[in-house]
Amino acid sequence: EELSSAEAIERVVEFMSTLPTENGWNSFQPLRLYEGFWTFPHFLESIILAQHRFKPKPGDIFLCSAPKSGTTWLKALSFAIVTRNLYDTSNSPLLTKGPHHCVPNMVGFEYKPDVRQPGIPLIPTHAPYHCLPKSVLGSDDVKVVYICRDPKDAFVSMFHFAANRRPKENEHIAIEEAFELFCLGRSVFGPAWDHILGYWKASQERPEKVMFLKYEELMNDSELYVKKLAEFIGYPFSFEEEQGGVVKKLIDLCSFENLSNLDVNKTGKRHEDDDEATNKTFFIKGKVGDWQNHLTPEMANRLDNIVEQKLSGTGLSF
Ligand code: A3P
Repeated sequence: EELSSAEAIERVVEFMSTLPTENGWNSFQPLRLYEGFWTFPHFLESIILAQHRFKPKPGDIFLCSAPKSGTTWLKALSFAIVTRNLYDTSNSPLLTKGPHHCVPNMVGFEYKPDVRQPGIPLIPTHAPYHCLPKSVLGSDDVKVVYICRDPKDAFVSMFHFAANRRPKENEHIAIEEAFELFCLGRSVFGPAWDHILGYWKASQERPEKVMFLKYEELMNDSELYVKKLAEFIGYPFSFEEEQGGVVKKLIDLCSFENLSNLDVNKTGKRHEDDDEATNKTFFIKGKVGDWQNHLTPEMANRLDNIVEQKLSGTGLSF
């Protein structure tokens, strides 16, 4: 049965209202529980619509992540890799548009199958692996790249992000309270460890289709992992490019240092109707281990223990 977009959205909204709901970290944004994960209704709407309506094209590349785990960076790097023959590092759209504009979120793509930008087959999503459209999970022509991050850093980043994005009249949640919720799995796309595990297992089972990256590894050896990424998504660097320093240039273009200092990422808006500059909320510190400045050793231990227990026997650790 082909529904119109408006009808489909209406049905999804109706369905969502039947799901378990809890307050998120901001009372103005409730979290809904869907297929084992908590998330905001606007994310959920596009995930459910995609499950019903998304039609993959050969060569599509899904860029997947839990929030605050390196989404912006992965978007920038993948965009730079895929478009490197169209632009050089002096005229890349990344210099004037910002990563989330260059690779827009797919809110909306479910109703307009052709929102892919020509030549840029990148489709970002925060959906857990098992919530990706069946058409994607079953496809041999679609690649999935996942980036994850030490949950301690992802938590701290999420805490800051939520503080920056809340309406000014709202008091911000205390870090202890947010931490408690995070440990219970009640965060955007929480439980965080289950999000990671879904993609980890998929990458073990289908290594040629699902690539698993860690923010920390990408930071420590950018050159190695950017080369792997390029190869995996089907845009490998040639010997000449490697010799000519193209990889290094691309890494520098996408570095936190470079991107966070561009005007567009300091003062630009992500959506036209945003009241304030929102691009800058995606660039906070860009460091590994910032949790040490915000979590007590007890908090860190507690989260480490949860994560270790959940990941035990899987071959994955942080
Ligand atoms: P911090 O809050 O630790 O600084 P996401 O992109 O998934 O929303 O994650 C945001 C986190 O990635 C923030 O972490 C942000 O500073 C960091 N980040 C953004 N752009 C980056 C880049 N180009 N390189 C490294 N880290 C980046």
